[in-house]
Amino acid sequence: MNQRFEPSGGLVGELRAPADKSISHRAALLGAMASEPVRIENYLHAADTTSTLQAVRALGALVEIRDGDRIIRGTGLREAREPDGPIDVGNAGTLMRLLPGWLAAQEGRSFTLDGDESIRRRPVDRIVAPLARMGGRIDTRQNRFPPLTIHGAALHGIDYELPVPSAQVKSCVLLAGLVTERTTVIEPVACRDHTERMLLRAGAPVRRSSRGEDGIRTTVAACDELELESLEVPGDISSAAFLIAAGVLVAGSRLVLERVGVNWTRAGFLQILARMGAIVLGELEPERAFGPDEPVSDLDICAGPILGTTVGADEVPLAIDELPLVALLGCFAEGETVVRGAAELRVKESDRIATVVEGLRGLGASIEALDDGFAVQGTGGLRGGRLDARGDHRLALLGAVAGLACEDAVEVIGIEAASVSYPGFVQDVGRLVS
Ligand code: S3P
Repeated sequence: MNQRFEPSGGLVGELRAPADKSISHRAALLGAMASEPVRIENYLHAADTTSTLQAVRALGALVEIRDGDRIIRGTGLREAREPDGPIDVGNAGTLMRLLPGWLAAQEGRSFTLDGDESIRRRPVDRIVAPLARMGGRIDTRQNRFPPLTIHGAALHGIDYELPVPSAQVKSCVLLAGLVTERTTVIEPVACRDHTERMLLRAGAPVRRSSRGEDGIRTTVAACDELELESLEVPGDISSAAFLIAAGVLVAGSRLVLERVGVNWTRAGFLQILARMGAIVLGELEPERAFGPDEPVSDLDICAGPILGTTVGADEVPLAIDELPLVALLGCFAEGETVVRGAAELRVKESDRIATVVEGLRGLGASIEALDDGFAVQGTGGLRGGRLDARGDHRLALLGAVAGLACEDAVEVIGIEAASVSYPGFVQDVGRLVS
């Protein structure tokens, strides 16, 4: 489905951004792993997180909706049920990479995970390698891609240094570590820590060191059961980022986004915006903070001129899903914007270096692909045109935001992809511009 987005007047008003996708996935998974019911407030209602609820149901958890909240009655840490057939993760990379951490330890049972065309192109060897070192038995297609079949086995603890800065890989190893004596993940570059925070909240023995010479070390030890009771999912900074970018770029905008998650391991985009001179105010979490809660803040956004900036490898994981927006903002900025150390973009829902460069060039951008990022020459604006989302939700939303800010309209090819993380985007924008 194609949709045209026309240059708009300012975005004005207050809005609650959609619930956090990363945290919703984790809440459903930990809910399924817990023994007592868990009440999840503000669970994201979108395609990806619906896949997670279907997956945990297939594994024996009960999921109910009560007063808008999701209640999950799990099976317990060691009691996942063998499903009748393959589990379909749809487009959800986080589900594909986290779930095997739990399932690898379900002795005597087997599980097959498969997904859509995009998932089948995304590597899973990054989780198979550490799980195999723990004693896990997993088969994949061509030793690298889904579908993947897990034969539950007894696991033992390892020390594992992440070869790529991936919170999905870290989370997978930590979940598997819950049934081992002791497992440590070493993170040379900090990446999102939602799993650790939620495990801490659930009473699991988790320790996260402050940054040492080799990076941050997170250790989990054997746990009998997880106890969560209830939790509230904050607003998703990655979805809010599209409205923030529109608010910065579209003249006359003045908007407030309520209760957005500002965990410092996710809020890199706000730091990048601050360097670009954008006016985005909020109460951010201090760097290096760690605890059982997810901090939230209202964010106050005002349109204004911006400057180019440089984003390097240490900052990339803290803003990984927002980097396409950094490219768009760079087109409107004064000077050059460069992102490096972001080769991970190539294995997202699409090859986001290639698709962002292709998409923005089609709108008139002066942008060049690098092996591990991109370089944009700011020209103060973009012409408009057509942008193919290539089945990637963040590309579809990028095109929509560009349409609001370009000189002419942008036609987004495949707008339906946006329903993976932000199904209500068009309606939300409609409320803010009317
Ligand atoms: C996610 C982590 C990131 C991010 C993805 C969600 C998560 O992936 O790009 O959208 O929920 O842990 P990597 O950890 O593989 O970089």
